[in-house]
Amino acid sequence: MSEPLLEVNGLTTWFPIRRGVWSRTVGHIQALTEVDLVIREGETVALVGESGCGKTTLGRTIVGLECPRAGAMRWRGQPLPGGIRPPALQRQIQMIFQDPAASLNPRLTVLDLLTEALAVHGLLERSREETALQLLADVGMDSSALHRYPFEFSGGQRQRISVARALALKPALIVCDEAVSALDVSVQAQVLNLLMELKEKYRLAYLFISHDINVVRFIADRVAVMYLGRIVEEGPVETVLTAPAHPYTQALISAVPVPGVERRARQILRGELPSPSRPPEGCAFHPRCPRAMDACRLVRPPFRRPLDREQKVSCHLYS
Ligand SMILES: Nc1ncnc2c1ncn2[C@@H]1O[C@H](COP(=O)(O)OP(=O)(O)O)[C@@H](O)[C@H]1O
Ligand SMILES: [Mg+2]
Repeated sequence: MSEPLLEVNGLTTWFPIRRGVWSRTVGHIQALTEVDLVIREGETVALVGESGCGKTTLGRTIVGLECPRAGAMRWRGQPLPGGIRPPALQRQIQMIFQDPAASLNPRLTVLDLLTEALAVHGLLERSREETALQLLADVGMDSSALHRYPFEFSGGQRQRISVARALALKPALIVCDEAVSALDVSVQAQVLNLLMELKEKYRLAYLFISHDINVVRFIADRVAVMYLGRIVEEGPVETVLTAPAHPYTQALISAVPVPGVERRARQILRGELPSPSRPPEGCAFHPRCPRAMDACRLVRPPFRRPLDREQKVSCHLYS
């Protein structure tokens, strides 16, 4: 197995809830709680879970757009600060967002978009045109794009430009936050294939945030399942998707039709996702869990690998 690129330990983040004219803090949203995660070189780790469970916050914290309140990160074994980082470190981790229309500056041409960060970092080795052309070639586009603006492209092409821009700084890890979710299915497949090719070519690792289990099945090596700011299950993608251990993962997967597989009994989750400002005691999933026991209401289950399983899980059914 390759070296850990990124190690995340006990990562915890909360946001104040402010109310009224004085913006008084009336509570906290617990966005991430004690998150542990390892991403190895060249590996794709998918992060799944319902909207609002903390996926984007984890991605943003890893790229340094958000400062964690507690916990530690390491990059190739060295401490990785939260928030602003030295440029040499910052370059290593890039992010691609769901909506390239919002993340690409509309006033810059593709040439500028692809080369501005390199110029800022003083890393332009060749002319800006040559550099941009190489990046465009990497994402299957050509010189006709150079002097055009983001709005002149289709959604799929815009996302290719975002990928090219992320590649410019030669990162080792790219956080893809719902990067293909807004695209039509056929375009989605093209961009996914592109990401897979680039991963091989440049030995990239991805943290691939998605709510689409079938996309995750296609692209990921491992998958981590989040619920209310915590990782509740994590392991090889095949294992977690075909033999999920946590009742939450089971429900999440049972809701997804799998091509070629007879539909399993669909488990409907009871109730709403509880407010992250007041996560339930014990196991945070217990109010919605079809298999909740007394212990689940009182004691938080440890996150560990049961002897007969390949994945780690946080659930009293296995302790
Ligand atoms: N900047 C912020 N200020 C306040 N609350 C936030 C902020 N960013 C995220 N949150 C809250 O943190 C929780 C996790 O959000 P997010 O990470 O965006 O989840 P996901 O990406 O899984 O949908 C949500 O309850 C969200 O409302
Ligand atoms: Mg999100």
